[in-house]
Amino acid sequence: MSRSKTGKVWEGRFRQRPDPEFEAFSRSVGFDFRLAPYELEVDRVWASALGKVGIYAEEEVRLVHAALDELRQLLQAGRIEPLPSDEDVHVLIERLLTEKLGPVGERIHTGRSRNDLVVTDLKLYLRDNLAETLSALIDLGRQLLARSYENRDVLLPAYTHLQRAQPVSLSHYLLSLFWALSRTTRRLRQWLELHNTCPLGSGACAGSGFAIDREFVARSLGFREPTGNSVDAVASRDFVVDAVHICACLMSDLSRYAEDWILWSTAEFGFLTLDESLTTGSSLMPQKRNPDSLELIRGKSARVLAAETRLQFLLKAQPLTYNRDLQEDKEPVFDALDQSLASIRIFTKAVEKAQWVGSRMRQALDPALMATDLADYLVQKGLPFREAHRIVGRMILYAEEACKPLPTWDLRDFRRFCDRVDHDVFEWLRPEFSVRRRNLEGGTGPEAVARQIERAQQELEWQLGLKAEFDSLRIAAQRPSS
Ligand code: ARG
Repeated sequence: MSRSKTGKVWEGRFRQRPDPEFEAFSRSVGFDFRLAPYELEVDRVWASALGKVGIYAEEEVRLVHAALDELRQLLQAGRIEPLPSDEDVHVLIERLLTEKLGPVGERIHTGRSRNDLVVTDLKLYLRDNLAETLSALIDLGRQLLARSYENRDVLLPAYTHLQRAQPVSLSHYLLSLFWALSRTTRRLRQWLELHNTCPLGSGACAGSGFAIDREFVARSLGFREPTGNSVDAVASRDFVVDAVHICACLMSDLSRYAEDWILWSTAEFGFLTLDESLTTGSSLMPQKRNPDSLELIRGKSARVLAAETRLQFLLKAQPLTYNRDLQEDKEPVFDALDQSLASIRIFTKAVEKAQWVGSRMRQALDPALMATDLADYLVQKGLPFREAHRIVGRMILYAEEACKPLPTWDLRDFRRFCDRVDHDVFEWLRPEFSVRRRNLEGGTGPEAVARQIERAQQELEWQLGLKAEFDSLRIAAQRPSS
């Protein structure tokens, strides 16, 4: 048997070595090394599958498995070092296996391609990492729910156009993020539904040349079933785009709440104080305490949103099936998942430790915020809404121009604008009353919010079930070594 001269698995038909600058340019092991634990697990299953078609004798399958166990230990001990000639993680692991087992190692790549291998590894990697994202989301959801429960009686203005609009409970506001995030967990469920299929056995593009038991391979790796078309399997990366899209939706949500809280922690708003441990000082101005944790979440959302765009651009004009361009999918998806997970964790701490300043929020509940309630009041007295809107608009204008805020008005002041106003109007000017009027489904009324909290608890239960489902699919790659 001839030995490799260049360390390239494809060297046979080449006369020249690769240009060293190009070699470095094309090398992916620097970033796809994180797929190594999955590659080892895939190799284990592949060796068994090759045993079933007679490429390996039973004894050889055992040898491969033992060698993979050793490699896993070396990997966990941080003792695997790629050589400059190792193009990617697949070549690296094949080389190490071959160094241990000689010709037995050289047979591991029978009937497969790096094209189906890389998709399989990456799906497994994403499945495990999205499970981590889900876990972190559950922790954040729990925090939001606990804070919502505590702050049922605290009121603040809800804003539209960043202008004070109507009073809501802090509980209702915090739950709004809970529901946005719960849609992210639903997206994770959809990801699993759509993408938990096994590409291995698709070969380079036409399907393996050996009668591999693909059901066995799929099940052994925690996939629901084998992919149904080899061309689609090696060419498609929508499972990567979808994973990043989930992160992008999530980061866009976190970024908006971060923005609110950054504003709200200013002296001008003063609605909340961020915990000191999540803020930083200035190198120059001794008095400063800055909300950098939230600013960074807002900033990192740019990275994650850009990752989605980058992937869509990467894909859109590639001819089928596999092209080396696809190697460029990994850095954006790894980064998007890393940054999202870190952001969720930091945001969870911010939620856990934020101090809400009820008195400042209360001060911001300008009586004009009850203008809609006042119009509703006139509607109840029989006026068409448009007319009621006009009348209350005039009242507000007068209150502003005459510097006579609504709560200082007596009945005569009101009756100058509309003779149907009665003694009961004063109740309608209280923020608590405004909130209490809204107990319909999805409203900020206390009873509606209590029902929302109950539903959120049920949603958390559902999320824990989904987590258990993800966990049941975990393969040895992520289990701690015994
Ligand atoms: N490193 C490659 C990637 O990430 C693996 C697949 C290489 N396949 C090939 N035909 N060169 O896409």
